[in-house]
Amino acid sequence: MKAEIHHASKYGNGEKVVAYLQGLLVAKGHQAEFRHVRDAKPKDVPVADLYVFCAPTRMGKPIGKMRRFLKKARLPEGARYVLIATHGEPVPDKRTGNMPSSEEIEKYQQNLPAMEAILRDKGAVKVAETKVYVRGDAMKGPLADGWEKVLEEFASRLY
Ligand SMILES: Cc1cc2nc3c(=O)[nH]c(=O)nc-3n(C[C@H](O)[C@H](O)[C@H](O)COP(=O)(O)O)c2cc1C
Repeated sequence: MKAEIHHASKYGNGEKVVAYLQGLLVAKGHQAEFRHVRDAKPKDVPVADLYVFCAPTRMGKPIGKMRRFLKKARLPEGARYVLIATHGEPVPDKRTGNMPSSEEIEKYQQNLPAMEAILRDKGAVKVAETKVYVRGDAMKGPLADGWEKVLEEFASRLY
């Protein structure tokens, strides 16, 4: 299998995520390359068996660079793709100590459905998706403990 991975990491966490995923795929004998969307041409995405898109979250949505890339992306009809969203881990409110409600969490975690909505119009087919968290006490990272396990489990669904 040949996988083409595009990410839009700003602080480096998402880049770590896709580099790790690439390593897992290559170790299983697949071809996999990753690049930042700023270094890629949306109209010229290399043909692949699997497309991976990984984006950080801003106000609940994929970062603008990834939204724009996906809107412009030219993919073959029926392209198989997977999505990864990096999120700040939900943490208790500093004043009240209460965890946000599931509705509040959902509001700030619309990255995956937003990317899917863009790609749906292109006739692409979603194979899998996952969220990976950065530590909630530091919105810019590092990645939350256990992120490698999340990716190992995720990658095993792609082989
Ligand atoms: C201005 C700003 C807004 C953010 N908004 C959200 C958000 O709405 N939901 C969320 O889960 N994470 C949010 N985050 C945390 C980002 O998801 C996190 O910084 C990102 O996943 C790190 O990825 P990167 O290191 O690859 O850039 C926000 C971070 C910043 C700096």
